[in-house]
Order: sequence, then structure tokens, then C-alpha cells
Amino acid sequence: MNAGQSKVVPPSPANLAEAARHIRAGRLVAFPTETVYGLGGDATNDRAVAAIFEAKGRPRFNPLIVHFPDCDAAARAVRFDARAERLADAFWPGALTLVLPRLEPCPVSLLASAGLATLAVRVPAHDVALRLLREAGRPIAAPSANPSGAVSPTTAAHVAETLAERVAMILDGGPCKIGLESTVIDLAAPEPRLLRPGGVVIDEIEALIGPVMRPKLVLDRGAPAPSPGLIERHYAPRLPLRLDVDPASPRPRPGEALLAFGPQPPAGFAVVRNLSPTGDLTEAAANLFRMLRDLDRPGFTRIAVMPIPDVGLGAAINDRLKRASAPRAVAQEAGAGQIG
Ligand code: TXA
Ligand code: MG
Repeated sequence: MNAGQSKVVPPSPANLAEAARHIRAGRLVAFPTETVYGLGGDATNDRAVAAIFEAKGRPRFNPLIVHFPDCDAAARAVRFDARAERLADAFWPGALTLVLPRLEPCPVSLLASAGLATLAVRVPAHDVALRLLREAGRPIAAPSANPSGAVSPTTAAHVAETLAERVAMILDGGPCKIGLESTVIDLAAPEPRLLRPGGVVIDEIEALIGPVMRPKLVLDRGAPAPSPGLIERHYAPRLPLRLDVDPASPRPRPGEALLAFGPQPPAGFAVVRNLSPTGDLTEAAANLFRMLRDLDRPGFTRIAVMPIPDVGLGAAINDRLKRASAPRAVAQEAGAGQIG
């Protein structure tokens, strides 16, 4: 038995209690759902959510699905309308994810939303997942438990092969029944949109809430998946960004706020938020969207940003900052746009 497989444990009461403790302590746990295995972390903990991105090696911050034990718990994080209630009644627990407006305030980390004003929520139909959620006592952010670019795992052994070093524990619930990710429906826009076909068939959804917009490329059999930029929205601050401010000669301009990184932020800026005074990229990722929003307010003219090392999570941070600093027309073309 290799080190990876030894983290795979049966979902006994004792193991579930331990897994819940790991989640509450900010550590990651892989767990089964009816669709695929999830790489779970405390959705209310910025650091835990940053650790998920780090473990997956995602080159970008895509928003994550947050799991709840029931609809009432989800309703404490997002705003349900009549359509959302109807779909939740019909399909939860189950393989349907709803993108809904975040409540203000919202207990879920802004990083799980990748800075957006919306959040993807789901109640999984799997006994082990539901017990873990109840025992942890908090929502769990969980993308599929595979490194970025690899196929989604449907057994605990698949997870152990690639992510064992990244998680505290892998709960083995046997093979996933559906083996395909959940269907993602965006209900935050005026017209419902299909963002990802999956476990729940779209016709059944339309029977309940009427027509759902299907971005062209998702529609046809065998068609390639749409480029993420076509359907994804990205958080972009309202204020322009000035990247790679030279820490040695920062020359703040009037009205500029500073998004700093590292132990020696330059002086002279009216307001400073430091992503990580110790230069820790996980901490910086955890703080990124909250601090950007913090600085993105009337009274400032621009946000200056110190250089951030382009390694590990730094690459995802720089990707986000670059998109946010692109001229608006270009950003729109790339699918950017602030909502809410
Ligand atoms: O079956 C599943 O859904 C699995 C299991 C573990 O529950 N989870 C999963 O999560 O596939 P993830 O994070 O890999 O999938 C997230 C999908 C992406 O397509 C993402 O773009 C979309 O949901 N998404 C999440 N939040 C969104 C938001 N606020 N707006 C638009 N799309 C969102
Ligand atoms: Mg995936």
C-alpha cells in the first residue's frame, strides 16, 4: 500500500467525525458525491478555499460549487427566487447546481465566487457527503477532485492517485452512481442559462421553469465545450489597475490606492491593503477579491498593484489582475464584466 492509498478510509462514524474536524480546521478532504468525487474545503474560510485552487493547480480562479446539507442552509448564503425554489424542490438532493445572487453579507468566501456577486450552490444526493456536511456544520466548497485538466474521479482510488498529498483524508464511498458532473444553471441573469450540461437533463428543467438559454456551443451532440470565456463572467473592479508598480520608485499618483504584496510596501499611498505581508501566495489568493473590492470604491482614481511572483497560485492571481487591468473593450471580449 503506498502513502496515497493509506489516506483512503471507509466512511465510519469515527472517520466522518475526523473528516469534519479536518474541514473545520481548514484542511482539505476528498469525499464522494453521486456525480464525482469532490475536493472539499470549508467554504467560509478564505485560506481553505485558496488551498483548493492550489491543490488543483488551476491556472485561473474559476468560481467553485459550494455544497450544503439542505435547501434551508443554502438559503442562508444565496437569494432564491420562485424558479430556484421550484428546481430545488424537484431536484435536491441531486445533480443540479444553481447559480444565484449572494446574500449581502454572505458567509461564503468571496474567493469561492471568484469575486463575482453570484454563488453556485448544490445539495448532493449522497449519504456520505450529507453526513460530512452536517457534521462539519459549514458549507463545503468542492470542485471535482482531480488536478486541473485531468478527468473527474469517480472512485476514491482515482483521487488517491493524483491528490493524496494534497488532502488530509479521502472518504471512500464506492464508485459514483452518475459519474458525470452536475448540471449548472445560471438563475442570476434575467433569463436562465445552461452553463454546463450534466447529471440532470435540461428538458426536465425546462418542464418546470420554461426555456433555458443554451449557449450555442453546448447545444449540439458532440460539439466541443464552449470556451470558458464565452459563458463565464469575470469579476473586474470598476477602477483601472496599474500593475507591477516598482516598489523602489512607486511614485503614487493622486487618488491611487495600493494593493501591496510582501514585507515592504512603498510609502506614500493614501490607502494600502497588503495581500500578504509575509509574501505567502496562498494567503494572497485568500485575500485577493476581498481586498480588491475594498479598494474599488469612489474616492480613489486607480488601484496600483505591486508585482506578484508568477509561480504557483501567483500565476492565477496575475491572470486575474491582468484581465482586470485590460482595457474595457478587450476585457468584455474575453468574457469579462462585472455583475451586481
Ligand atoms: O458534480 C459536481 O458539480 C462536482 C461535485 C464535486 O459536486 N463539482 C464540480 O465543481 O464539478 P466545479 O467547481 O469543478 O465546477 C464548477 C462549475 C464550473 O463550470 C464553473 O464555471 C461553474 O460551475 N460556476 C461556479 N460558480 C459559478 C458562478 N458564480 N457563475 C458562473 N458559473 C459558475
Ligand atoms: Mg472538474
